Amino acid sequence: MALLLVAQGLQKTFQRTQGDLPVLTGCDLNLDSGEAVAIIGASGAGKSTLLNLLGGLDAPDGGSVLHHGRPLDFSSLRALTTWRQQTVGFIFQFHFLLPDFTALENLLIPARIRHRLTPADRERAAWLLDVLELTDRQDHLPGELSGGEQQRVAVARAFMNRPQIVLADEPFGNLDPERGERLGQLLFDLRRQEGIGMVIVTHDLELAGRADRVLRLEAGLLALAQAEVDA
Ligand SMILES: Nc1ncnc2c1ncn2[C@@H]1O[C@H](COP(=O)(O)OP(=O)(O)OP(=O)(O)O)[C@@H](O)[C@H]1O
Ligand SMILES: [Mg+2]
Repeated sequence: MALLLVAQGLQKTFQRTQGDLPVLTGCDLNLDSGEAVAIIGASGAGKSTLLNLLGGLDAPDGGSVLHHGRPLDFSSLRALTTWRQQTVGFIFQFHFLLPDFTALENLLIPARIRHRLTPADRERAAWLLDVLELTDRQDHLPGELSGGEQQRVAVARAFMNRPQIVLADEPFGNLDPERGERLGQLLFDLRRQEGIGMVIVTHDLELAGRADRVLRLEAGLLALAQAEVDA
């Protein structure tokens, strides 16, 4: 069976009036079903850019992303959006919760976009809120939640639609190490329990060490970085 997600020779250059900025120069990545890969690398190395390409939020200048062997088709934005909604859960570097909706409503929005809400959706939302220890905060607006609670809602939201792939971009970067550690454990437990493939960008080598493989993004390329994590 084809791999869950494959990146082949991904290239991305940002065009600016001051000159071109090549960020990715040929990234290759294989993600198996249910596998977790961590990506580390310096600030500005292109980690968020890479996740945006993997999740079809942005088109590469060269190379391709394949899901179960089929390349993402950027010529049909509608088909791409549907694919994304059905396949990918994003946890962004900045959580992007909708400020006028409660924690529970933020969770239900991805399901509501796809279909009428069902009792099963509400059950899943309640279960995720329970797993992430948020049940007593479900009626809070994002502005009424702590930073860590907001990130937990963002994690729950990413899993809501039972995605095949979770793309997590430095999800706990703004939390104190102890809370980050606990949430990291919850995130990895949740993805293992549901058999979800995950690419997680993190500066935290301990969190990265929970993944099946660790890659470093440097000079526009991905390379194995296991030794750094084991050290
Ligand atoms: N839309 C854009 N236009 C021009 N340059 C951009 C754009 N987006 C990102 N860049 C540049 O591309 C480089 C990579 O950005 P990216 O956000 O992918 O880095 P990162 O590895 O995620 O960094 P961090 O760890 O700080 O989040 C940076 O130097 C950034 O300034
Ligand atoms: Mg980033």
